[in-house]
This record gives sequence, structure tokens and C-alpha cells, in this order.
Amino acid sequence: MTEPKVVAGVGVPPPPEILLDVRNLKTHFHVMDGTVPAVDGISFSLPRGETLGIVGESGSGKSVTALTIMRLLDIPPAEIVEGEIWFDGKEILSMPIDRMRRIRGNDMAMIFQEPLTSLNPVFTVGDQIAEQVETHRKVRRKEAWDRAIQSLKLVGIPSPERRVKQYPHEMSGGMRQRVMIAMALSCEPKLLIADEPTTALDVTIQAQILELLKEIQDRTDSALLLITHDLGVVAEMVENVVVMYAGQIVEEGSVDQVLMTPRAPYTMGLLASIPNVHKRGDRLSVIKGVVPSPFNLPPACRFEPRCPYAWDLCRREPPELVAAGGRGQRARCLLHTPAGESRRRDLLEAVETLVDVPAQQEAAAEAAGA
Ligand SMILES: Nc1ncnc2c1ncn2[C@@H]1O[C@H](COP(=O)(O)OP(=O)(O)OP(=O)(O)O)[C@@H](O)[C@H]1O
Ligand code: SF4
Ligand SMILES: [Mg+2]
Repeated sequence: MTEPKVVAGVGVPPPPEILLDVRNLKTHFHVMDGTVPAVDGISFSLPRGETLGIVGESGSGKSVTALTIMRLLDIPPAEIVEGEIWFDGKEILSMPIDRMRRIRGNDMAMIFQEPLTSLNPVFTVGDQIAEQVETHRKVRRKEAWDRAIQSLKLVGIPSPERRVKQYPHEMSGGMRQRVMIAMALSCEPKLLIADEPTTALDVTIQAQILELLKEIQDRTDSALLLITHDLGVVAEMVENVVVMYAGQIVEEGSVDQVLMTPRAPYTMGLLASIPNVHKRGDRLSVIKGVVPSPFNLPPACRFEPRCPYAWDLCRREPPELVAAGGRGQRARCLLHTPAGESRRRDLLEAVETLVDVPAQQEAAAEAAGA
């Protein structure tokens, strides 16, 4: 892996309470058929100790966002075309990779969807956790090994003294995911990134792992960036959410705002396609039409070919992310600009019918009480 080109003239750091600040990030892939603008100008920030969800259909750029933050992409074919990522007061895209390695696994850790591919099959889980602790914390082997046992205990693995000597293939999927979480937490990271951490697990185990993540996040006060297809998981796990479509953020706000009063037609479609937002396991792939090819994106609004509210301007003017609905909620939709104002008022009634507001209120109330 080569280093990304140094981003010239990085701006000023965010205020100290902001742990992660992603600014106008563009990560593209150069492939045989052309360029894939996988992440195309996204900005968001995550304060220390808080939780943020990223949702969107398959291919919207969620994992590429996470891998760019972790600096785990192969460059090439990836190129970080533009942007800054501030983490804990430092700009990390312009940082030498060996400094970034010290941050990764120490202050910033990631849990992947399929633990079997992220764990090394030829080492015991204890060796893998201890190795990480030794590398990052400069402690002796014995202390690192004790820490590995403690981490397994923390994530609820029974008989950790015995389990620590097992190989990944000797464990169930749920146990392996607990090991991944133990490994991520062994160095007490300030930021935990979880990319679809439960998708590969069965429903009961999913609930346990999510519960564990939430409990640990509360206890350790680490910030959580949770990537998921699943709006039910979002409702339960995070405070704020960004919705991605075709490499861009199309809506952002608090969970209540986005799930109960969505302002971008894409978010409305996602919600309307799910009978009960609180139900786990639904995939977000039921909006009419298909995600556009990254080689042939619509010229202005990328959702236009699928949008029930599109009009001619949507094919000419790319919408910006603008204030929609107040209290920090923003949507990328021309209906929220002066040009769309009268249409929006006309459509409001239809929108409320489309989005089943009572079902969402019930779901959000349930999530808040859970
Ligand atoms: N190594 C790569 N080379 C070329 N294109 C890539 C590469 N990795 C990702 N992409 C493309 O970037 C876009 C975003 O992919 P990404 O994996 O971030 O989607 P995602 O939102 O995580 O989807 P999913 O929900 O399926 O995990 C897709 O069009 C994908 O094909
Ligand atoms: S800008 Fe137009 S096409 Fe795009 S989401 Fe809004 S109404 Fe739909
Ligand atoms: Mg992904």
C-alpha cells in the first residue's frame, strides 16, 4: 500500500470536543472501465463519546468511508482526491503511514462484518489480542496476555482462560465477533468503527452483540461510528445519523428527526419500504429502480431516476445539502430550496401518507424506552 498524496494546505483543527471531523472527503477508484466516485464530497463530525450511524443501500460508499478514515485502502486503485480527516486534533490523511499505524488499533479501532476474514487463522485468539496490546502499549508479554484474558471477559466470553488459547475456527460466529470486539477494545480506543458488525450473525446473536457494543460504548465512553443497512439497528444504537446515496450524504440529523420526519425523498423511500423500522434484519433494497452505475451517474440529482417527486430542475441542478426541518437537520433535495418551495408545500400531504408516521413514532418510542 502506498501513501495518499499529502493534502496541501490543511485547514484549522476542529474544536477539542470534536473527535472525528471529515471534511469534503472524496475517495475515488480508478478501474479499467473508468473512475468510481465511491465517496464524493462527504462531511460529518462526531463529538467525543457520541454515536453516529451511517446508513444507505449497498454500494453507497459506507465501507469506503470507514476504510478511508482507517487509511486501509490500497492506493492505487483508490485515490483520495480531496478532503481532510481530523482525528483527535490531528489531520490524518497527510500523516505518514507509520504514525497512522500507531493510531490505528490504539486510538481508533474497527470491527468488520465477517470476523473470520479479519482474524488470522494460524494464531490463537489470545496471541492475536496480546500481540496488538504489546505493539501499541509497549507492555511485556505476560501483561499483554493477562489483558487479552480481561478483554475476553469484558465481552462476555465464558471461561476466558481456556478460550484465549483457542483458534478462530474453534469458535462460533458470535464468539468470533466477540473476539473482534475484544481485540478492538483491548487498547481502549477513542473511536470504534463498526461496519455491519452483526449482518453475518443470526438474529438472537445479533441482539446480544449489539447490546454488548452499546454497553461497552457507554462504559468506556468511546465514540461509535456504526455502519449498517438496518434502520432498526440505527433506532436502537445511535444518536445521530447520516444517510448516504451514490457516494453523497443525502440527509443528516438526529435519529428522531431522520426516522420520524425524514426530509429527503430517498430517506422517505427507505422508511416507507420497511413496514416496521424497529424490526431487525431488513435490507434496504426495495425502493423502486436501481442504484445508478457509478460510471453513469445522473447529471444533477443522483436520486432523480428513482424519485417520485422529481421535476425538470432535478435533471439540471445538482442539489446541495441544505437546512430542512430545523434543529440541524439537512437534506440534499431541491424541494428544500426556494425553487422547490411551492412544490414542497403541495407535496407535504402526500409525503405524510407515504411515510407511515404513526408506525415510526411507535418504533422510536419503543427504541427510546428500550
Ligand atoms: N477496491 C475497489 N475497487 C473499485 N471499486 C470499489 C472498490 N471498493 C469499493 N468500490 C466501489 O465503491 C462503491 C462504494 O462501495 P462500498 O463498499 O463503500 O459500499 P457500501 O455502502 O459499503 O455497500 P454494502 O452495503 O454493500 O457494504 C461501490 O460502487 C463499489 O463497487
Ligand atoms: S432534488 Fe428532485 S429528484 Fe432529487 S430528491 Fe429532491 S425532488 Fe427528488
Ligand atoms: Mg460495506
